[in-house]
Amino acid sequence: MSDPRQPAEALPDQTVEPATSRRGLSRRGLLGAAGAGVVGLGAGVGATLLTERQSTAPQAAVPAGPVRYAFHGPHQAGIATPAQDRLHFAAFDVITDSREELVALLREWTDAAARMTQGDGAGELGPTSGPYDAPPDDTGEAIGLPASGLTLTFGFGPTLYEKDGQDRFSLEQRRPEALVRLPHFSGDKLDPERSDGDLCVQACADDPQVAVHAIRNLARIGFGRVSIRWSQLGFGRTSSTSTAQATPRNLFGFKDGTANLKVEDPELLADHVWVPPSSERRAAWLHGGSYLVARRINLTIETWDRQSLREQERVVGRTKAEGAPLSGGTEFAEPDFTLKGSDQAPMIAPDAHVRLVHPDHNGGARMLRRGYNFVDGSNGLGRLDAGLFFLAYVRDPRTHYIPIQTKLGLSDGLSEYLQHTGSALFAVPPGVQPGQFLGQGLFT
Ligand code: HEM
Repeated sequence: MSDPRQPAEALPDQTVEPATSRRGLSRRGLLGAAGAGVVGLGAGVGATLLTERQSTAPQAAVPAGPVRYAFHGPHQAGIATPAQDRLHFAAFDVITDSREELVALLREWTDAAARMTQGDGAGELGPTSGPYDAPPDDTGEAIGLPASGLTLTFGFGPTLYEKDGQDRFSLEQRRPEALVRLPHFSGDKLDPERSDGDLCVQACADDPQVAVHAIRNLARIGFGRVSIRWSQLGFGRTSSTSTAQATPRNLFGFKDGTANLKVEDPELLADHVWVPPSSERRAAWLHGGSYLVARRINLTIETWDRQSLREQERVVGRTKAEGAPLSGGTEFAEPDFTLKGSDQAPMIAPDAHVRLVHPDHNGGARMLRRGYNFVDGSNGLGRLDAGLFFLAYVRDPRTHYIPIQTKLGLSDGLSEYLQHTGSALFAVPPGVQPGQFLGQGLFT
């Protein structure tokens, strides 16, 4: 059979890459990036930011225009990276029993992730090249799309180490103590089909098609070794993670992320997000990594929408308009929990969300929240299946998440309008150096 794919002829606004995509279309080729050299820029902490036209001078963390984040570095990108607008999150079950196959998969994922985050296809040949009688090594829906700030962040769940009493891949000796099974929290109504997972990948990008393309190709590469257990699409970040970003709003209509940890504060990240070197010997491989808590939280939007503005602000503890604490001041003012109104009641109610989660009431613990809004259609009763896909990075979930969630489940005024329907915890290995693969320290 003749090959109808002819040597590519560049259209006026296209550049065709010379070698690997000789006969086909590549992503960056179409973007005319061939003439643009790329130099890394410091972008806050951890992730390095790359733009199409660049200089070595430090710049604002959130530039206008197309963005690429370096894949290699001390920490995985997608944590201390200014939160992108879109999410596709996937949890995987490992379906092979072979440790070698698992390692091979992680190597292949590392290569594909390094390529896709730079705006290239998942494989070297590209979506329209390679043997005509074999599936292409990229699925093609990202042809012509830029990197769109794509980050891919990988994690290992507790069941990668031990499942049904089996030390599946001889990893149990290296399981960090903090990689626990999360306890049942009051108010949980968890769907097992939306919970847990041996591996996870958080794909964040400013274009949803780029994020979906990345997860799809990682799943395709993993065929026969992993299968998707559950996945979640998210739109509209619910947290700012950089001082250069405006605070977004969650589906309750409130600003979210005001008091979040920000990438511009490396000391706070070191104290609350990155796993320190000295924590435990069995977790030495996790130094520079983190823990990711993922919770699918449904909002009973219809009930919420019938509450008065007074009640809405009371349970949050902040104003809806500006996001300022009810004790006064502007958005970034520190809440004063001691202040009382003329009725002698605390201006920030005892069960207000911001009171319960404030670091002063949690032994100083803070977290890097990086969640997204979601709407997964409706439930047939005229109600939206919608909520907040809560993602938080912490250095130890036993001190920085579990006690806080326990308290929220029992006393949070917001919890009347929430239902936790999915839950997972992952250990997130440190960043990858060139020549290494994801989580290499765990296996070597
Ligand atoms: C759908 C559920 C949730 C909603 C709608 C929500 C909403 C909010 C809002 C509006 C704020 C104030 C703005 C800000 O500082 O970011 C806030 C702050 C915060 N929330 Fe939530 N939240 C939810 C779930 C959670 C959960 C599950 C946790 C942790 C267990 C949590 C932890 C925090 C923390 C740590 C802060 C910052 C407090 C501070 O440092 O002053 N939130 N949340």
